[in-house]
Amino acid sequence: MLIKNKNYRTVWMQDSFVYMINQQLLPHKFEIYKSKNYIQTANAIKTMIVRGAPAIGATGAFGIAQAALGFKGTNFEDFKEHIEKAEKILKSTRPTAHDLFYAIDFIKEKILKNSKIKNAKDDAVKYSNEYADWSAGLCRNIGEHGNRLIKNNQNILTHCNAGALACVDFGTALSPIRIAHYSKKNVFVYVDETRPRNQGSSLTAWELTQEKINHSIIADNAAGFFMKSKKIDFVIVGADRIAMNGDVANKIGTYSKAVIAKENSIPFYVAAPLSTFDIDAKSGNDIPIEERHEDELLYMHGIDENKIMRKIRIAPQESPAKNPAFDVTPAKYITGIITEKGVMKPTKEEIERFAANK
Ligand code: MRU
Repeated sequence: MLIKNKNYRTVWMQDSFVYMINQQLLPHKFEIYKSKNYIQTANAIKTMIVRGAPAIGATGAFGIAQAALGFKGTNFEDFKEHIEKAEKILKSTRPTAHDLFYAIDFIKEKILKNSKIKNAKDDAVKYSNEYADWSAGLCRNIGEHGNRLIKNNQNILTHCNAGALACVDFGTALSPIRIAHYSKKNVFVYVDETRPRNQGSSLTAWELTQEKINHSIIADNAAGFFMKSKKIDFVIVGADRIAMNGDVANKIGTYSKAVIAKENSIPFYVAAPLSTFDIDAKSGNDIPIEERHEDELLYMHGIDENKIMRKIRIAPQESPAKNPAFDVTPAKYITGIITEKGVMKPTKEEIERFAANK
């Protein structure tokens, strides 16, 4: 993605360091976070310095590569044990996004195929970088397929941030919008603020500003108003995990947007790479939903008029909060799923057909 005339990826590895755009600080500060080892990388995923399903997948793969490079011993069995410990720590950071598990399993299989530690370390670096390149390419393809669904002068609603910041590059839900904009279509984006962490108003709006794509932030509760008053033609969201019956887990609030879209006959699309499908999840009931800290709801973060970052409490001291980070949208509300291989209906048959071609 282009930031101040320079091309960046959300996450990359150089030597044994993992670099990531620090998403805790956006849109107020653009800073690169440098992680020195896999423990710091796991912590960056947990605290959402890096977030979004494909981005945490690639970061998890780099974390395993860091673990491999950081191993000091000479015995391959000890090396294997060390990688499995890193796997456990990295996988325990965020439970819902399937890409994290997919990427870590991919890289672990590649490196443990070796019997020599030196070769395993070389492969860890090689394949984690290849994984990140591959993931960025998939998102670009999602953009090309999704762009064909977007007509000139359409108004599009999106929820959370499923942009380049949530991926290695391009984005999932924002990729078709980007490609439509590059191909000179006039598009306008309604950006749900996405409480409690405001990934819409802080990250999606920031990305659209960088690309000069017309948009307005709207309160989460306003999407129904705009859909009913025919201001929205099309909805595109990302996904954290998709079950084999087409049920989709995505940022909390996605489900209600999908129901309102159906009620108003507005197409509701999900954009996600095939790595988001979980063959072990028969339906949305099998998808683990992350419960995050109540402070995300009870406090707000921002800058004051002197540009000082502040955290302020917005609820009574005595009030607790409940904070599920994701919800599941049943397949019946979804018009189609935009993948790197094309657009599919959210049915078991279509998913199996696409998965066979993965
Ligand atoms: O909690 P987050 O910010 O990691 O949640 C991100 C989302 O829900 C995205 O929509 C999803 O990961 C798809 S990202 C391309």
